[in-house]
Amino acid sequence: MAENTKPIALEDRGETGEKLFSPSAGRNKDVIAETLGERLARSSRILEIGSGTGEHAEAVCLKRPDLRWTPSDPDARSRASIAARSQEIDNLAPPLALDLLDQGWMGAAPECDALVCINVIHISPLDVTRALAGFAASRLPGDGCVILYGPFLEGALSAPSNLTFRDDLQRRDPQWGVRELDDVKAVFAGKGWRLDERITMPANNLTLVFKPD
Ligand SMILES: C[S@@+](CC[C@H](N)C(=O)[O-])C[C@H]1O[C@@H](n2cnc3c(N)ncnc32)[C@H](O)[C@@H]1O
Repeated sequence: MAENTKPIALEDRGETGEKLFSPSAGRNKDVIAETLGERLARSSRILEIGSGTGEHAEAVCLKRPDLRWTPSDPDARSRASIAARSQEIDNLAPPLALDLLDQGWMGAAPECDALVCINVIHISPLDVTRALAGFAASRLPGDGCVILYGPFLEGALSAPSNLTFRDDLQRRDPQWGVRELDDVKAVFAGKGWRLDERITMPANNLTLVFKPD
């Protein structure tokens, strides 16, 4: 599991000891935990990609102690934050150093029933979305699911704030950008996944649940 040497986008963060705190995670972690908590199967094994500070993993694990959650992030400082949370929560495993642009680890990834990826695919190249869909197709069971959370564009119905955010991201890196939902659906469809549920979330975000076609 290689250490990422490429620049990674990290949100603004505060810190207390090893634990990092993201203002945006502070705002959305409860509604995300509620949404995921209602959908993840009992006692399922979750692999989270791009866990950041670990606040979402912590919130879902506290709400659903039956889940077994493995967080991950390519960024070492983020992993230290997640590790500090993992020491306090029985069903939150220590973080793995997984980078979707480095597929060497994929064959050795832990068995899981669902993949969760929050606020990652707009702030990384489209190859990250492709790798996520490919990994899901190769490793999840027939009743598995992939859950994405974040901002998306929906053609003429796109929220103006998400269009502005796309432009900001693309100025920072031309490969980043809030994705069109249809493009994300096409990437997943190419690997045998259909969009099963589209959930409207606060602040013009969506939770998307993909299931095998
Ligand atoms: C905006 S932060 C979101 C963190 C957290 N999920 C949240 O919502 O607070 C984006 C995260 O994606 C991770 N990331 C970026 N590129 C990645 C890649 N190629 N593979 C896996 N994670 C990646 C970063 O390290 C960072 O933690």
